Amino acid sequence: MSEELRSGFTAEPCPFPGGRPPSPPGPSGSVALITGASAGIGAGYAEALAARGHDLVLVARSADALAELARSLTERHGVRVRCEPTDLADSAAITRLIEAVSDAGLTVDLLINNAGFASHGPLQQIDPGLDHRQVMVNAVAVVDLCHAFVPGMVERDHGAVINVSSLGGFQPAPYLAVYAATKAFTLSFSQSLAGELAGTGVRVQALCPGPVRTGFFDDLGTTEGAVGQTLTAEQVVARSLRGLERGQPIVVPGWRNALAAQASRFLPRRLITAVAKRAVGPGQHAQQAARPSVDERRAEDVP
Ligand SMILES: NC(=O)c1ccc[n+]([C@@H]2O[C@H](COP(=O)([O-])OP(=O)(O)OC[C@H]3O[C@@H](n4cnc5c(N)ncnc54)[C@H](OP(=O)(O)O)[C@@H]3O)[C@@H](O)[C@H]2O)c1
Repeated sequence: MSEELRSGFTAEPCPFPGGRPPSPPGPSGSVALITGASAGIGAGYAEALAARGHDLVLVARSADALAELARSLTERHGVRVRCEPTDLADSAAITRLIEAVSDAGLTVDLLINNAGFASHGPLQQIDPGLDHRQVMVNAVAVVDLCHAFVPGMVERDHGAVINVSSLGGFQPAPYLAVYAATKAFTLSFSQSLAGELAGTGVRVQALCPGPVRTGFFDDLGTTEGAVGQTLTAEQVVARSLRGLERGQPIVVPGWRNALAAQASRFLPRRLITAVAKRAVGPGQHAQQAARPSVDERRAEDVP
């Protein structure tokens, strides 16, 4: 990452989506911090927020992809972008990220915990290390970053958190067992936090997308999700930011996905588990077991 991108970041007000902040504008130096910003939904948030004039901190492992995105956003939207290449499966790296943001004098007024990946297949065929990393990225990092940045938001009575869960967070999912569990965790954690912060100037949203066309499915040996209404990252991000303006604590983009989320609340758990098992299906997990996951392939590139 170029030094220019790091040092070129100075304190500036950071408007909220649509120019309608949930509470009075934050202090100078306020930024939106987006994890998993190198691709997919995270890059979509970066694009949408930069277009609205937000200064950004972008987090993911792929330093080159972050730097390229930062350069493009700065050129096209005139915003300041700081890149923080970080492996969120590594607790020490998360601590370094939090310190770097603090040392730079930045105030995170919008935290988007979006980074995540899925392991797929029967538990006994999945590398335990991969599942450990999945829990770290999809769940532990979400809590760590909320601990780092929510207290400041509460003190300022201003800010917002978006935690990216999934439609899969509403139900068990055989062959995606750890993934669905981390997304259920994120959904529950976000709802609880939203309850704690109700009446303050801090909003919390759990975004629960159905299938979205991103590189997410590369790891699963398929190009699209088997269940639900498939949307683009841009559609999902637009719906999430609209929901934030409206103060919606849970956003499920796409009406068919929203219906599925509701149905999973009322149908017997055994039935929805069986339906999910059929939908995710065997056959796909065999492909994943036979090839290294994107997460494993990228692990070697972590700076
Ligand atoms: N696509 C879908 O259908 C779908 C549906 C529901 C929910 N979601 C959720 O949406 C979020 C974004 O997924 P996506 O669809 O945009 O997938 P994606 O295109 O694969 O992007 C995943 C992002 O997470 C980052 N990431 C993965 N492991 C990381 C690690 N150890 N440390 C730091 N960053 C890491 C990746 O960056 P690096 O590889 O550069 O680190 C990348 O920027 C995830 O939480 C996913 O569970 C996706």
